[in-house]
Amino acid sequence: MPSASMAGGHTPPHSYEEKMIRLSSIGVCFILIVAATSGCGDKIDPLSAPPGGGNGGGDDGPTYVQDIRSILDQNCLPCHSTSKAGSQRNGAPPTINFDTYELAVANIERANARIQAGTMPPTSGLEPENRTTVLDWLAAGIPRGEP
Ligand code: HEC
Repeated sequence: MPSASMAGGHTPPHSYEEKMIRLSSIGVCFILIVAATSGCGDKIDPLSAPPGGGNGGGDDGPTYVQDIRSILDQNCLPCHSTSKAGSQRNGAPPTINFDTYELAVANIERANARIQAGTMPPTSGLEPENRTTVLDWLAAGIPRGEP
């Protein structure tokens, strides 16, 4: 009588298990790649964001004008704008505003603390990629960028 167990080498449960192991190691690699590129701590990628920046060059790290202003406009100005008063501010402190580069820089440490904690905007915090952009901007020395 031919033995079924010697036939294919792999029984279905075995190959399923192998597939799962392969899939989960792909997942682990993906997570490691994301962790490595999204700035754990304040490491900055020397290729994309040279420290000190210079003024112009080929620097494509985040700048206020190119990256940060739109994040603040969309996520913070609904409450933290000098154009809002009283109840329009939804409880945001009158002195914390982000309308301009100067205002953003003046409040950046407190703002970043809340952004990284995920408690501003109060609803659900900033999207993870926007949090990373803000961190990269800080690491690059909060450059203003071209108008
Ligand atoms: C829906 C309205 C709203 C939005 C949008 C919002 N905030 Fe706030 N913010 C508040 C309120 C209300 C407070 C005061 C209560 C508190 O501190 O949680 C506050 C307080 C703050 C403070 C002061 C905390 C301190 O150090 O005393 C900072 C800084 C701040 N927000 C930053 C931000 C940033 C940055 C964004 C956008 C990424 C943002 N907020 C978006 C309503 C808002």
